[in-house]
Amino acid sequence: MEHATVVVSGTKIADEISSSRSEVWRLIQQLRGMGVDVAGHPATGYQLRSVPDLLLPEILRPLVRRTIFDAHLHHFYKIGSTNTVAMASAAEGAPEGSVFLAEEQTAGRGRGANSWQSPRSTGIYCSVILRPALPPSDILALSLAAGLAVRTAIHEVDSRVEVDLKWPNDVLLNGKKICGILTEMNAEATRARYIVVGIGINVNQASFSKDLPATSLRLATGSEWSRVELAGALLKSLDREYRQLVDDADSKEAILQRFAENSSWVLGKRVRIEENGSAFEGTTEGLDPRGFLQVRTPHGLQTVLSGTVRER
Ligand code: BTN
Repeated sequence: MEHATVVVSGTKIADEISSSRSEVWRLIQQLRGMGVDVAGHPATGYQLRSVPDLLLPEILRPLVRRTIFDAHLHHFYKIGSTNTVAMASAAEGAPEGSVFLAEEQTAGRGRGANSWQSPRSTGIYCSVILRPALPPSDILALSLAAGLAVRTAIHEVDSRVEVDLKWPNDVLLNGKKICGILTEMNAEATRARYIVVGIGINVNQASFSKDLPATSLRLATGSEWSRVELAGALLKSLDREYRQLVDDADSKEAILQRFAENSSWVLGKRVRIEENGSAFEGTTEGLDPRGFLQVRTPHGLQTVLSGTVRER
């Protein structure tokens, strides 16, 4: 993939992987079976013409080497929800760093009782298992850090794209949602047993129904994105954010600060909060030390624990 379009002889590839030309031929046939377009044969050499934009472990693994995610990549063509599978696998002991990717979800889940539209091979539907030695009260910061990781990944692939983070877990582009994050956990009172961070990114959708305030990277930028490249960048930036949070005791404060810096919603935004069947309005006034959103109302400062935030 690093030398696409170059013709490489079968002998050279065989030398590089310490194997034989016939084994190279067999492997090339296997790649072709997966949809990879390779021209040539053992006598003339091989040329990589195109790689399918499928989130296959074989394609993604080289992009996430030396991260906690490189050893347990799982891929599904069609699944109910990657979060559901990840939570069940974590309960059965799946290791930290396990990744579950789907081309299509038939029962994609959003926050609350919402669903997440997951049409085939157009978005990234990804859930990861983490097992941090952190109290449940720190998991909100981890979830906010996931939003920062999405922001970094998008920026790495196209530095012209600047997204806005909406507390707690939406990523917006031009005021519309391009990514949602669903963080779920199994915890004791003082210790999280395991966390699943589920990330859905609208990448190449060509349209959304009118009642959905959503957009895709393709709609916003006018060109098709490589899901493989973006998924690789995402797992790498998530790895960096996560390591920092678990390795450095002071990083939580820094995460909250960076989140606030990259969000137009945290300070001075007129909002309406819908929480537990009731609603109130006010102006946002920063995050508290745990990461909860604070809103100034006529009745004083209120802390939003889990509600939906809308612009007024
Ligand atoms: C939201 O904004 O409501 C959160 C949406 C989270 C969607 C992702 S897609 C991958 C993972 N699997 C799911 O079923 N949900 C999350």
